[in-house]
Amino acid sequence: MPGEESVYLGGGFIPRGKAAISPLDRGFIFADGVYEVIRSYGGLLFELDAHIERLRRSLREIRMEQGAADGLGEMFPELLERNGLSGSEALIYVQITRGAAPRAHLFPAAGTAPTVYAHAVQFDPPFELRDRGIPVILVPDTRWSRCDIKSIALLPNVLARQMAEDAGAGEAVFVRNGTVTEGSASTFCAVFSGTVVTHPESNLLLPGITKKVVFDICARAGIPAAERPVREDELYRASEMMVLSTSREVMPVVSVDGMKVGDGTPGHITKKIQAAFHTINHPA
Ligand code: PDD
Repeated sequence: MPGEESVYLGGGFIPRGKAAISPLDRGFIFADGVYEVIRSYGGLLFELDAHIERLRRSLREIRMEQGAADGLGEMFPELLERNGLSGSEALIYVQITRGAAPRAHLFPAAGTAPTVYAHAVQFDPPFELRDRGIPVILVPDTRWSRCDIKSIALLPNVLARQMAEDAGAGEAVFVRNGTVTEGSASTFCAVFSGTVVTHPESNLLLPGITKKVVFDICARAGIPAAERPVREDELYRASEMMVLSTSREVMPVVSVDGMKVGDGTPGHITKKIQAAFHTINHPA
């Protein structure tokens, strides 16, 4: 039970205050690593397999051994338990880096152990914001061209999110060559003529797990949904918008750069999806 937070590092659990990571860790020096964020609904790890699969894919794409992700899914319940979070709303953060080695751009010597770290925190879902919706701003997508990898190198995302905050908005949405890609930490969707539209999966954005669940919901509920590039200059025609993520779930967007979306309140398709999403995670 919590006294001090217990974290997972180097294959075991230790108090967070005792967790030591080398200053030569390649995560610290090069942002040479990948991560996942997983939501626990009272101990139910939402879409766990999909998160582990995406973590493995990220490892593969940065040429790390996928075995570094072995056993994590089985470890998470104990991580929650040790922090008194088994029955709570929580978020698990897990990060894997290429390990500690003398600083050099080349991969470290074979056999260098990856650094595998995870923690769990209590999570207060943003219910009120989900009812009201958030303003967003559009920002230039200055990121690299492998945004499909869930890399810990998040400086452009951090700067974009802070720009949104400074502008009184709740998310920054990236635009690359006139096309809307995704939010700083979310998938972006717009509704055109009753169809939920989002950018197709590509190297330019993260394949969102919440998005996959939302598209399944749409298929079951008979809500048309399509993946095609959305141009910035057609956004004014969208009747609704939303951003999707593990922590924000289905978050309505009520204005873009100060211009109202629809009547400036969450749209009815968005609300229908929100309700269905809630049902999945809170089975009767
Ligand atoms: N971010 N796009 C980006 C750039 C993201 O960082 C995220 C999630 C998403 C949505 O992915 P998912 O639905 O699988 O959570 C899309 C997490 C929550 C984060 O960095 O905190």
